Amino acid sequence: MSFSIERYKEESRKLDTTGIDWAAVPASPLSKGDLFSLHYMMDIENHVPLYLSHLLVTRACMDPILTAFLACWNYEELWHGENLGKLLNLYGIEFDTQQRIANVRANLGFQNSVSILTTMLGSWLLKDFSAVYLTIGAINELSTLTGYGALIRKSGHPVLKDLLGRIIKDERRHYAFYFNSAKEWLTENEKAQRVDRWMLDRFWVPVGQGVKTQEEVDALALYLFDDEQGEEELLAIDEKIGRLPGLAGVKLMSRALYAARERRRQNPDWAWRLIENEEWAIAPPKKSPIGELTTRRTHASASAMSALEGM
Ligand SMILES: [Fe+2]
Ligand SMILES: [Fe+2]
Repeated sequence: MSFSIERYKEESRKLDTTGIDWAAVPASPLSKGDLFSLHYMMDIENHVPLYLSHLLVTRACMDPILTAFLACWNYEELWHGENLGKLLNLYGIEFDTQQRIANVRANLGFQNSVSILTTMLGSWLLKDFSAVYLTIGAINELSTLTGYGALIRKSGHPVLKDLLGRIIKDERRHYAFYFNSAKEWLTENEKAQRVDRWMLDRFWVPVGQGVKTQEEVDALALYLFDDEQGEEELLAIDEKIGRLPGLAGVKLMSRALYAARERRRQNPDWAWRLIENEEWAIAPPKKSPIGELTTRRTHASASAMSALEGM
């Protein structure tokens, strides 16, 4: 698996959706589990620009190859979220994308700022922080594309299959970048290997956790991977990440699945109730109305403002 940053810069572009049969979206059914997964995936794709703010405060960003990658990567991820939203809208699920994204972000609240600060501090204290960040990037991209593959299999929806197949090609390139960069950093660097392993064993969480709750993460994992093939796919992710120097035998994705199963064993309603009850809407934040956070005003308040200004 090779990766050339020069080639990536040349070839990076908005997801090509030419020829996707959008009109056929409503013709095939999507289950509640498919819809739950699609909302989760869309939200996490749309979260990338904010996730980027965590990366740009780290010492990893002293590396111009990394920042060149991030510049293109961020743009590609944007179109993944946009197109997943488009498919949901065409299927008949109504939401305003901008409003939804703003709600997701506003609900993170103070926790987001604390997280940026701790990432920044960790990166400046730990010389080998980049190794951790790059390894997590590799796991995230590989688990994302594996999740898309599982959703294609679960849903059997032809248009979704076409769309996700195209997105998966982007995710493969992202994975190749992170994996090769992590490998480069970790090779013959035992200290970095120890730091990486220590951090992953203690602090790693599946992609999306933090933006999504533990129960939402478990619902996605159990819907997509709680069968023989799904478990094998997660073990295969661990095996691939375990090929990085110092990470032999690491168990991350499979461990997350087993933990999700255990939580459901203790509470049989756990996770499935979210899918069954179609809990994929995003509630507006209790504090800080979106207008205040984004400086955008609702029509009502905008006209009230202009009336005041005219006085
Ligand atoms: Fe993506
Ligand atoms: Fe990606």
